[in-house]
Order: sequence, then structure tokens, then C-alpha cells
Amino acid sequence: MPHLDRRRFLVAVAAAGLAPRLVHAGAGDDGFIVLEAAPAEAPLLGKTGKPTPVWAFGGTVPGPILRVRQGAELKVRLVNRLAEPTMIHWHGIRIANAMDGTPLTQKPVEPGQTFDYVFTPPDAGTFWYHPHIRAAEQVERGLYGLLIVEEADSGANWHDIPMVLDDWWLSDDGAVRGDTFGNLMVAAHGGRIGNWFTVDGRSRPVFQAPADRPVRLRLANTANALVMNLLIKGIPATILAIDGQPVAPRPLEVEPLVLAPGGRVDIALPAGSDRLTLAVDMRGEPLEIAYVERTGEASAAAGDIMALPANPLPRDLDLTGALLVDLPMEGGAMGGMAGARVGTQDLTMRQLVERGLVWSLAGYAGMPENPVFSAAHGRTVIIVMANRSAWPHAMHVHGYHVRLLDAAGTAPADDAWRDTVLVAPEAEARIAFVADNPGKWMLHCHMLEHQEAGMMTWFEVGAAA
Ligand code: C2O
Ligand code: CU
Repeated sequence: MPHLDRRRFLVAVAAAGLAPRLVHAGAGDDGFIVLEAAPAEAPLLGKTGKPTPVWAFGGTVPGPILRVRQGAELKVRLVNRLAEPTMIHWHGIRIANAMDGTPLTQKPVEPGQTFDYVFTPPDAGTFWYHPHIRAAEQVERGLYGLLIVEEADSGANWHDIPMVLDDWWLSDDGAVRGDTFGNLMVAAHGGRIGNWFTVDGRSRPVFQAPADRPVRLRLANTANALVMNLLIKGIPATILAIDGQPVAPRPLEVEPLVLAPGGRVDIALPAGSDRLTLAVDMRGEPLEIAYVERTGEASAAAGDIMALPANPLPRDLDLTGALLVDLPMEGGAMGGMAGARVGTQDLTMRQLVERGLVWSLAGYAGMPENPVFSAAHGRTVIIVMANRSAWPHAMHVHGYHVRLLDAAGTAPADDAWRDTVLVAPEAEARIAFVADNPGKWMLHCHMLEHQEAGMMTWFEVGAAA
């Protein structure tokens, strides 16, 4: 893998700077937030470096934070000012199918055209948005932002710090390495891993937070392919939510905290004046990526860390009579995949490579014409995701949050509802959910180069009787 080894994280030349507040989107008179997708420039290298040409929502990377109250309607008008079609997917939202923003649910929004997304998120939590067409390039160039659904009343007096974590593959002059998009070597390995790390579009920002209140960090991994091994140093941290869904608060005892592409984790820091250093473990080398400094005095009545209120998802999941679906995952370098089906044709590995495909799900490379399974409304579904490859995969299910039953034979430490599940090489993970959201839903690897090179499929859920 020649060029994977050449990659090194560029040395941060910019001194750590004060973090800018992310922009919040505001709605117009008609209640619509207008999100323009367009070329822009972003100061990824800091003040001393050249700005990086990017594609952005609302002119910034990340795009504006969309904030909506749980149970309230969100109206977003996408205006496409790119030179190519796009669309927006609302990652992790248990959304009405027509608003899911994939090629299964809408036509691409052509340059100069608009599309109105109107939906009511059922769950409070930390979610995000990004294109779902040519995503490997569009997301890498900067098209993504946070969607924060606020609890009607969380009861807590948090200081909220969203942190959107991304890596970039830049050339020395700070431009996005455009020559490497669609590279099959990259797709057959771990996907596009960058050489520059940003948090909220900045290198090593310093956030400030009052010492007299707990802090809620909302971490989102928007990288194309990097599985982030996060190290939280200097202050005890408590996990509050995974992929937007609350869990019983539990101290983060095991490091690193693994955050797969597409995933989110909400973390609470206690009141107090300790400084936090956030780092990513890059093969044993900790790379510091952000800091949180506390200001003012820590008061005695600082307030405890509280559990987040539950979302409208069941606690228990009855698996009796579940529909059992096998989803073997094959391909990639050192995987020995012989071939796969594309449409109605059986292709050899060579023929697949000629079409830019190196991965398959349940025997198909790319989207099959028919769903990989169909479930009647209300049926419980168990999917056995068997990773028969030498690479991990971050499997993302649209329209649902799923319970991880076990991964590599071990049950998880929590009963969280997740939308993105990391499956280790040569391991199996079983997920389950109740198919109560009708429509056509994608299921794919969120390592976007894997997805683009074949690792995507879809399933269908019937309407309520
Ligand atoms: Cu965040 Cu189908 O993607
Ligand atoms: Cu993958």
C-alpha cells in the first residue's frame, strides 16, 4: 500500500487559537432555514496558512449548526450552487422516508435548483447532515454540519460545546488532494485517511467554558474513513449519549474512546477548573486536537452530572419471531473476494475493479435492484453482519437506531440505540430493531470510499396496516 505509508500528519504550524463559535442557522419569515451548498474558502491551516478552497454549506466548514427543539418541525431549503448535483441526508434522524435525502427517496438536486426538507425529529440529541451523492468527495471537501435536537427540558445547566472532528488529506499548499478521489487503492484499504486534523474547521482550537457548570461535549466524527481513538486527558469524563441516544451516565474508564466515521458521542465534564486536552491516538502517537479551558470560579453549587431524558424508543427489545438477515461483508485488499453481483450480472473481481468496485454486501457490489430484505411493519429484525474482510467497517442504518446485540461474541457495555456500528475485521456483529418506520432505507459502510466502491445496500419496510 505505497501511498498509505507516505502519509504523515503535517506538523501544526499554527499556534493554538481561541475557538470561534460555530455559526447557528436562523430561519426566514417562511420558517425555512436556507442552506446554500457552494464553493468557499476555509482557514483550515490557521491564520498563517493559505485558506483552503472547500465546498461548504452556508460558507463555513462545518456548515451552520441547525438547532431544533425535540418535537418541533425543522424546515430547511437546500440551494445548490455547486457545479454538480447534491442532496442532504440527516444522519441518525428517525425521519419520514421521503426526507431521508438519498437516491432511493429523491432525485438529485441539480446545480441552481432547490429542495425543501421538512421534518420533525422524534429524538433529542446530537446528529449531523451531509450529502448522499458522491459523498466521498462532497463530504471530504467540507459539506457537513451538526443538527442538534434539544431536549424539551434536559433539567441540566450544561455549557454546550459541539466539536466536529474531521481529518483532511491536504497537499503542502493546503489544498484538498483532489487527484486522489476515486482512487481504488484507497478504497480497497482503510479509505481516505488525512494528514491534517480539524475541530470545528480549526487546527487545535482552545474552547473556553465556565468553571461553575458542567460541560456537555458533543463529538461528531465527520471524517471519511478515520476511526478515531479519542483520548480525554486532564479531567474525568462521563458518557451521556451515543449516536444521539442517551445512555445511563457512565465514567469513561477505558481509553481510547472509539468513535467510528459517522458516529457521535456526548460527554459530560464536571464543574471545576481542570483543563481538558483532547487527543487522537494515531497508531500509538497521541495527536492533540483541541483543548477546553475553564474560566471563573468553580462554585460549591456546581450541579451534578445528570442523565439525559429518554427518547421515545423502547428499553427492551423482544427478539422472539425476529426476521433473521445475513449480511456478509466482503472485498478489499487481502480479502480474497472472487466476484460479486452487479444488477443481474455476476462479475469477476477483475470486472468489478474495471467498474470501480471492490466491496460487496450480501453478494452485491453497489445498490441492488431489489432490497436486501423486506420487513412487514412492526416486525423485529436481526441482522448478522459478518465481516469477511481484513478491514473494519462502520455500518450505518438509515431511518432507525439499532441495538447492538453483540460484536465478536461480546455484548456491549451499554444498551444504547446506535445508528453506526463498527465491525472489526473477520468479526461478526448482530444488530436488532423493530421495523416500524416504513420506506426504502439505505444500509452502508460509512467509510465513504468503501461505500462508493460497492459497500452499500438497502432494505424496505412495509406501511402500517
Ligand atoms: Cu451519514 Cu448514509 O449516511
Ligand atoms: Cu467499510
